[in-house]
Amino acid sequence: MQSKVNFGLIGCGYWGPNFIRIIQNSRSAKLSRVCDTDAGRLSQFAERNERVLFSENIEDIINDDKIEAVIVCTPVQSHFEITKKLLLAGKHVLCEKPLANTSAHCEELDRIANRAGKKLMVGHVFEYNAVVLHMKKLIAAHDIGDVLYMQFARMGLGPIRKDVNVVFDLASHDVSIAASLMGAQPISVIANGACFVQPGIEDVAFIQLEFANQVFANINVSWIDPIKQRIVKVVGSKKMLLFDDVSTTEKLKIIEAGKDYQVSSGDFGSFQLSTKDGEVIIPNLLHPEPLIEEFNHFVNCIKNKDLVPVTNAKHATSVVTTLEAIQSSIHNKGAKIAI
Ligand SMILES: NC(=O)c1ccc[n+]([C@@H]2O[C@H](COP(=O)([O-])OP(=O)(O)OC[C@H]3O[C@@H](n4cnc5c(N)ncnc54)[C@H](O)[C@@H]3O)[C@@H](O)[C@H]2O)c1
Repeated sequence: MQSKVNFGLIGCGYWGPNFIRIIQNSRSAKLSRVCDTDAGRLSQFAERNERVLFSENIEDIINDDKIEAVIVCTPVQSHFEITKKLLLAGKHVLCEKPLANTSAHCEELDRIANRAGKKLMVGHVFEYNAVVLHMKKLIAAHDIGDVLYMQFARMGLGPIRKDVNVVFDLASHDVSIAASLMGAQPISVIANGACFVQPGIEDVAFIQLEFANQVFANINVSWIDPIKQRIVKVVGSKKMLLFDDVSTTEKLKIIEAGKDYQVSSGDFGSFQLSTKDGEVIIPNLLHPEPLIEEFNHFVNCIKNKDLVPVTNAKHATSVVTTLEAIQSSIHNKGAKIAI
């Protein structure tokens, strides 16, 4: 039997406990230490995880030579410093998204990881989501025809962050998904945003990414919307894809309706544009928990030296580069920014 990868976890607020559950149930990993600066948070988990050591000081994880890999689940503004220390201490790191506040910091972390020969992966969890992977396959096979445009809605009430705005928090998912579906990075952006709750921190943003061949992705993100929405729509020339992540039973619909060119019975060369109705297919996909898929991939990358994480630091840097361009457009009142 192969030995289990020994893990530490930093940050057990809203998201970190998911990793505690996943590691505790894993056959290929074990959890040795959890660290959080909030002693109150730690005490909630210490009772239920007797074999795990809990502390308020991340040095306890950094200095524990038996820990090979660490998951960083702290607020974004702390990712750079914590991840850098861990890599320099010789740990593999799975850091939550986005990797850092700036693309320069992402690049620096990439260099440090490469020099140290350690795996640095970022929690862009939708890259491990069965629906996104299926959509990617359909688009790459040209099953939906040409991609005409995409629309994303990621809205609801909070959680409202203090260290980053809604763009770095929520749109980081959509920027990652959009580039992945297109198999390319966006070339420019126009975005507007507003700060209704906290001064200087956008809680709502309206983003238009442009890809090659004038394919646009419209992304709406909000922390202050009354309805929770997690929608990804891809309109193709033959079919449309609708991913509704809030739905429990019908996450992906493949809609065969669309626009259609029909030659009219009239003169040569004339045609009329009409819409056509068609089947709606709900594919029977297996839906493994994406975070478990992400975690297992990280463990495989640690165990297999030659395996490169799908969401490696280069992927994470390109996401943050796009987020920076969105931010710049918002600060310049919707000016078009080249990426
Ligand atoms: N992939 C996803 O869908 C998803 C969902 C939610 C959050 N996240 C990401 O997870 C990360 C954490 O988000 P959250 O919602 O859990 O935040 P949170 O504020 O609820 O929790 C963060 C925890 O980190 C602790 N902490 C802060 N600074 C620390 C430090 N220097 N050392 C040790 N502990 C520290 C805090 O006490 C807190 O308990 C963020 O990067 C966020 O973007 C990802």
